[in-house]
Amino acid sequence: MKALVLIGGFGTRLRPVTYSVPKQLIPIAGKPMLYHVLDMLPPTIEQAVLATGYKADVIARYVEEHPPKVPVRMVAETEPLGTGGGMRNAGGDMSDPFLLMNSDVIAGFDVTALLARQTEHGGIGTMTLVEVEDPSPYGVAELDATDRILRFVEKPTREEAPSRWINAGLGAWKREVIGRIPDGAPVSWEQQVVPGLLADRVYAFRATGFWEDAGTPDRLLRAQRYLFEAGRAGRRTSIPTGTTGNGPVAVDPSATVEGATFGGSVTVSAHVVVGPRAYLEDCVILERATIEAGASVVHSIVGPRARVRAGHRVSHQVLGEAAEA
Ligand code: GTP
Repeated sequence: MKALVLIGGFGTRLRPVTYSVPKQLIPIAGKPMLYHVLDMLPPTIEQAVLATGYKADVIARYVEEHPPKVPVRMVAETEPLGTGGGMRNAGGDMSDPFLLMNSDVIAGFDVTALLARQTEHGGIGTMTLVEVEDPSPYGVAELDATDRILRFVEKPTREEAPSRWINAGLGAWKREVIGRIPDGAPVSWEQQVVPGLLADRVYAFRATGFWEDAGTPDRLLRAQRYLFEAGRAGRRTSIPTGTTGNGPVAVDPSATVEGATFGGSVTVSAHVVVGPRAYLEDCVILERATIEAGASVVHSIVGPRARVRAGHRVSHQVLGEAAEA
């Protein structure tokens, strides 16, 4: 079986860091988001096809230098085709059925159970749904008594939402859906294609447990905390010798962090320099950034080669490449 992973978006909600680093290569809990997503694939998946677009060359280089456990093949778009267009462009030789994933879903789901549900009901597809407190920012499913999806309501008000079950960005589909995607123009899979497939029976896989669309700073940092707590960090180190505070942390061995204090849930990438008395908590520091003496970074993402000046406090911020704060 194959998986089709959508990885071509601009990641606008994580700007300015995504101006230079594609969202899927931002490290969380010690390794890039994409690799956590690929970790979710069950062993029955023989190949993951990555539908790339924005910064496809950067992703291709990284993946070639750091081969994931599952074999991957990349198919790049020359212009953004939307989620549906990306599927059509890259999905020419999908298995039947195939697994479809967004590349920013961090979750504790049983993907094998999702695939089993697809085989069991035999409809055209199965969408993973998660229950959220407030469904209004999402596509919300209306379900019948057999858990067949009757329709999706996009971004309803809380009162108008037909349920609290939303599309989690992970599904199993029959191969024929690829041919149902219009060719030649950008297409949204969720909004322009899925509604037309519901008549061919699409069922819900109601997932429980952790789920996060790690596409915003808050959610990315929440996903990082979960990955550490769930024992799924790419690297989990004790706080380095010469530092104080608490883990969990993932500190690259090439980073210099002498004299710093950690407050938990921190990723420090390669060649980062953290000065004495600096404080880091609930944050991601990308490679070659500098956090000077006595500075603090809390609940933030610091881009590559950025610099936080001595004594400065960065809180709830995203700094882009080479930014100064
Ligand atoms: P925002 O700009 O912050 O909304 O992020 P995004 O660009 O990633 O968009 P969104 O989170 O809605 O996208 C969901 C998934 O589809 C992500 O995994 C994206 O990488 C992917 N995606 C979005 N647009 C495209 C596209 O035009 N082509 C391809 N191949 N993938 C896309």
